[in-house]
Amino acid sequence: MKTYQFPEGFLWGGATAANQIEGGFKEGNKGLNIADVLPGGKERYNILTNPGFDFAIHPDQHFYPNHEAIDFYHRYKEDIALFAEMGFKAFRMSIAWTRIFPKGDETEPNEEGLAFYDKVFDELHKHGIEPVVTISHYEMPLHLVNEYGGWRNRKVVSFFERYVNAIFNRYKHKVKYWMTFNEINSGLVMPIQGLGFSIQNEQDKYQPTFQAYHHQFVASAIAVKACHEIIPGAEIGCMILFAPVYSFDSNPENVMYALQEEQLFNYFCADVQVRGEYPAFMKRYFKEHQIDLQIEDGDLELLKEGTVDYIGFSYYMSRTEKKEKSDEEASQGNIIGGIKNPFLKASDWGWEIDPIGLRIALNKLYDRYQLPLFVVENGFGAYDKLEDDGSIHDDYRIDYLREHIQAIGEAIEDGIDIMGYTSWGCIDMVSMSTGEFSKRYGYIYVDKQDDGSGTLERKKKQSFFWYKDVIASNGKTL
Ligand code: BG6
Repeated sequence: MKTYQFPEGFLWGGATAANQIEGGFKEGNKGLNIADVLPGGKERYNILTNPGFDFAIHPDQHFYPNHEAIDFYHRYKEDIALFAEMGFKAFRMSIAWTRIFPKGDETEPNEEGLAFYDKVFDELHKHGIEPVVTISHYEMPLHLVNEYGGWRNRKVVSFFERYVNAIFNRYKHKVKYWMTFNEINSGLVMPIQGLGFSIQNEQDKYQPTFQAYHHQFVASAIAVKACHEIIPGAEIGCMILFAPVYSFDSNPENVMYALQEEQLFNYFCADVQVRGEYPAFMKRYFKEHQIDLQIEDGDLELLKEGTVDYIGFSYYMSRTEKKEKSDEEASQGNIIGGIKNPFLKASDWGWEIDPIGLRIALNKLYDRYQLPLFVVENGFGAYDKLEDDGSIHDDYRIDYLREHIQAIGEAIEDGIDIMGYTSWGCIDMVSMSTGEFSKRYGYIYVDKQDDGSGTLERKKKQSFFWYKDVIASNGKTL
């Protein structure tokens, strides 16, 4: 097998989000956030995209898996010790905004919440693991959703500013790598988690969606500037969901359609956060959809001043598109679908497996932006079988990860500057799209089932030992 040269200091590790691992949803004065009202189960997506979604907890109707999640809140020491045993150099995690500002609009932060992340960062550093922190990972305070209408409301920008100032000041000696909004572009398809509101009516989605985006871009620029001022030497990136878009065939109609899908979904947000200005193609889009952005004096200058240092992105799959498509052709995917690609196999959840797509993604992003890239999510959601002797043979996961790491190795040979790789769900957790525990990504198995039962005991999978060798050999042993 070919061996690859990964740079010295490459940030190997794993990725998580507070709402999917922590639990303790009311502990330490934490306030409720969006993830706390997301029901479990495969119907989650349908409930969320239903215009009647009410952002409330109905214990008589649903089970809420994020409330306890995998109890990282109490078990972080044990989990970090396991990450250290694998040799992690980096651990991507998020801070739950509602631990720091329980409602979101307070003027003073919650000391208990701040102290919790102090302990987590100290534990990571004790093991020589660098925290990579997402500031907002689908965890907006529920109060800001229900009382302010989410990111549609300009006031949220100043609440966010207070939040970032609090965490940068508190953790300035502990956290060097930051990212602003997780998968910021996902709000174009599913605004609930990222933008904090649901679309009541398909025709009315454009104005509020893009106004909310403008506020997030301003907030992101404020965060970047504050980070640079408060923590000299820190690096702060954007984070996008990137699935390269392929045209189904060489029909120029389809090629143009695929290009436009790519511009809007893959590049629009990153263009603003990286280049500091709205891309040209959005002018026509805004006009055609009667979008009239309310831009305050100084906003456009701020966007220019607050451009990011690197691009973090998630890659699970590519996407194939065609202008006219039938329901039968549709494929499932990570928030966005497309149509089935006849050359690719898919996971049990219908996500198509395409390692070359990762090399394509890296090339496209680097060609466009010439900024360091960080693969902060990639992984294989699968059903795992716990054998009688306690072992888990997840060779399918190893195959997936190996091929994707090889694609990164190829991209490094292509000349691309890649900072690291934190695979998604290094420990089993609640799935974001379906609220299932049985959709597992981890190197570490967690005994927790879809009905909420389970001891929460951790077990090492076969992939645990494989990844340990990958890291120890700096990517030579795959
Ligand atoms: C990404 C999200 O879209 O995909 C994560 O940033 C999420 O939060 C991951 O968990 C995998 O998706 P899922 O639905 O399988 O958990």
